[in-house]
Amino acid sequence: MTTPHTPQPAVAATGLRESYGDHVVLDGIDLDIPAGTIFALLGPNGAGKTTAVKILSTLIRADGGQARILGRDLEQDPDAVRAAIGVTGQYSAVDGLLTGEENLMLMAGLNRLGRRRGRQRAAELLERFDLADSAGKPASTYSGGMRRRLDLAMTLVGAPRLIFLDEPTTGLDPRSRRGMWEIIRELVAGGVTVFLTTQYLEEADRLADRIAVLDRGSIVAEGTADELKRRIPGGHIRLRFAEARALHSAERALGGTRDDDALALQVPGDGGVDSLRALLDRIDGASIEVQELSVHTPDLDDVFLALTGHSTTTGDDARDAREGDDTKAGSR
Ligand SMILES: Nc1ncnc2c1ncn2[C@@H]1O[C@H](COP(=O)(O)OP(=O)(O)OP(=O)(O)O)[C@@H](O)[C@H]1O
Ligand SMILES: [Mg+2]
Repeated sequence: MTTPHTPQPAVAATGLRESYGDHVVLDGIDLDIPAGTIFALLGPNGAGKTTAVKILSTLIRADGGQARILGRDLEQDPDAVRAAIGVTGQYSAVDGLLTGEENLMLMAGLNRLGRRRGRQRAAELLERFDLADSAGKPASTYSGGMRRRLDLAMTLVGAPRLIFLDEPTTGLDPRSRRGMWEIIRELVAGGVTVFLTTQYLEEADRLADRIAVLDRGSIVAEGTADELKRRIPGGHIRLRFAEARALHSAERALGGTRDDDALALQVPGDGGVDSLRALLDRIDGASIEVQELSVHTPDLDDVFLALTGHSTTTGDDARDAREGDDTKAGSR
């Protein structure tokens, strides 16, 4: 059994494989996640994120490979694994017909907490997740952010030591997203290990101790946010012109990469105010007429392009839910 004083990895997996027919979804992935940390599995639609979560949380069996979750073997001891983890799936487990409190009581029942203890736990969680005022309302009347919080609260009823969060903030507005990040950080401060999946580089950057980039079933890069960012090309500024002559004189004055079809010039820039000001001064100095200017900061596309040589939109069913899109609306 486990020795209490040896720090034990929350997840130690090697060679995990999964295929559906002849479609290889996970092509042998290794994971090593220290307890008490936040790990992010970053990847586009169809990369295999949910499949990895399902395997590690015992919902489906891997075709190959081994994993130990909090010291328990996934294959030999799935019940012990199940007892120690919580899963908040990509699609909500909230029952819209039940109230927030009833949803939590249902989970308390499944965790065999007993009525009194269940009520207590539900009240605690409703308070902690800022849902106490809506506890008696049907969950179908909750906003998307409230639903996500309830979903996570339901996962926490059984006080798991490791939680899997499959795209916890997809579809949330920036404020709700920050609220969710705050909650996730508090969980980890309380000793829980978090395994999250995300399509958002920014989310992985803000939250995770370590990030693994999953692409078509393989981990193509792994490291801290800083380590990964060093591998991503910097941002750029995109200038659009009304006519080809302006484009050509801009290229002579500023350098950069020309896109003749779009009448656009791409100039490297770090997205900072100073470099933008310097560029504007040079544009003014050369008396160039610019029709439109947009600042492009590195996003998931850039990471993928840098790491894999292809963009995220080649995924299965590219969903338009990426971060950083606002600066280049209409480019897709
Ligand atoms: N039950 C299944 N039967 C057949 N194919 C499946 C099944 N589940 C997943 N797949 C396929 O496996 C691949 C990976 O799916 P998965 O759901 O793990 O991706 P994901 O990274 O979670 O994507 P998303 O960001 O869209 O949630 C996809 O090509 C998907 O179509
Ligand atoms: Mg998924």
